Amino acid sequence: MSASASAPAGTSVAPFRIGLLGLGTVGAAFDVLLSERADEIERFNGRRPVIGGVLTRSRGDFERILCDCDILVELIGGTEPAREYLLAAMRSGKDVVSANKQLLSQHGEELFETAREHGVRLRFEAAVAGAVPVVRVLEESLSATPIERIHGIVNGTTNYILTEMSAGASYEEALAEAQRSGYAEADPSDDVSGRDAAAKMAILARLAFGAPVHLQDVSYEGIEHLHRDDMQYARELGLGLKLIGTAERLRGGVSVRVYPAFLYGGHPLASVLGPFNAVTVESEAITEITLSGPGAGGRHTASAVLGDVVSVMTGGARPPAPPLALPLITDVESAFYLHLDVADHPGVLAGVTRVLGEREVSIRSVVQRGLGENARLVMVTHPVLESSMRAAVAELAEFDFVRSLPRTIRVIEEEYT
Ligand SMILES: NC(=O)c1ccc[n+]([C@@H]2O[C@H](COP(=O)([O-])OP(=O)(O)OC[C@H]3O[C@@H](n4cnc5c(N)ncnc54)[C@H](OP(=O)(O)O)[C@@H]3O)[C@@H](O)[C@H]2O)c1
Repeated sequence: MSASASAPAGTSVAPFRIGLLGLGTVGAAFDVLLSERADEIERFNGRRPVIGGVLTRSRGDFERILCDCDILVELIGGTEPAREYLLAAMRSGKDVVSANKQLLSQHGEELFETAREHGVRLRFEAAVAGAVPVVRVLEESLSATPIERIHGIVNGTTNYILTEMSAGASYEEALAEAQRSGYAEADPSDDVSGRDAAAKMAILARLAFGAPVHLQDVSYEGIEHLHRDDMQYARELGLGLKLIGTAERLRGGVSVRVYPAFLYGGHPLASVLGPFNAVTVESEAITEITLSGPGAGGRHTASAVLGDVVSVMTGGARPPAPPLALPLITDVESAFYLHLDVADHPGVLAGVTRVLGEREVSIRSVVQRGLGENARLVMVTHPVLESSMRAAVAELAEFDFVRSLPRTIRVIEEEYT
């Protein structure tokens, strides 16, 4: 069935009419997938899902589509007019599905509140990790499990670039290859800056902890500043480098952040390569569960969107729960990798360890490479407050023998073997 088709003649039960906003990469794939799956969905559900109307910039009338549909699927992207369309649909009592992470991470509370007020469902599986069904697992399978922490690789572009870098490419070479292969956009800034992952982590934190976390509450760092050198040292230390999003309960509050991090080989996210996504959910009750799979692409994303539509058709989803007031914690503990370019003079190591000691940064391992003016100190610390590490690094940068800005990368120490 094409995007303009309706229910086949002779169908006795009224079709389930989908108002489709957007017919781009995901919208068009959704239309194709729906036509392939409609028979099967009708067979177990009793109603045939059909496209009731389509809106693009050049086609369709929103009011008419809204009036004629049982559910509205928003695949436009951006905040406006997507926000207005979703609010209007929910206010008129329609269930909605969206794949829009930017919108949910910036206006989630307004959307959730409207869904609650009008008793409708707001589904957004595709907004977090593409085809990886983490939203449903958190909302349903783990709804009785007190989640302590989520680590996620939720941006396939950066994971692809880091995978290429770990095989020896420079950042620039890896980015160019990602663009050639269709894994990175012409303007990759939202991905490589960590902002896309931050939006997804805000949504995951809201789901896992009930706290109204917005994109602006998430601190994020990207991968643009990473060096090939760091990847090489990481390999020697048995570490892999990933862009990790973390959402965790901490000191009575919640911390949500995105940052490049080294992982030991035994961490479930260490083996996630290329454009894949994965999310690890940790709780005392379950130890750890990892979900992984394709994180983007029209057909994969469309499959998550169609899953949401079917879940609404079968009455499986509830309106969102009200938010819980939890403070945001910004200064957290982490182990660090520290890379210093130093002149190899007597007293250098003593000077470095004195500054680290004064800031309560304790060293777990240290490697010295090179001689003379080209020496490098590469250290891994034990966990320390990020504010202490930042202060130590600022002080180290003042030494005459430190020849370029010290580089730090967080290290995730847990392994599940
Ligand atoms: N692409 C992926 O792999 C992926 C993965 C996960 C989530 N998502 C999310 O899925 C959503 C859609 O992404 P996409 O890649 O399919 O986008 P896209 O290819 O740019 O398509 C956007 C569609 O929305 C329509 N549109 C844009 N502005 C509009 C407006 N003001 N009024 C009416 N229609 C408008 C466009 O119309 P025209 O055809 O007239 O231009 C186009 O059909 C986004 O929220 C994105 O973040 C995408």
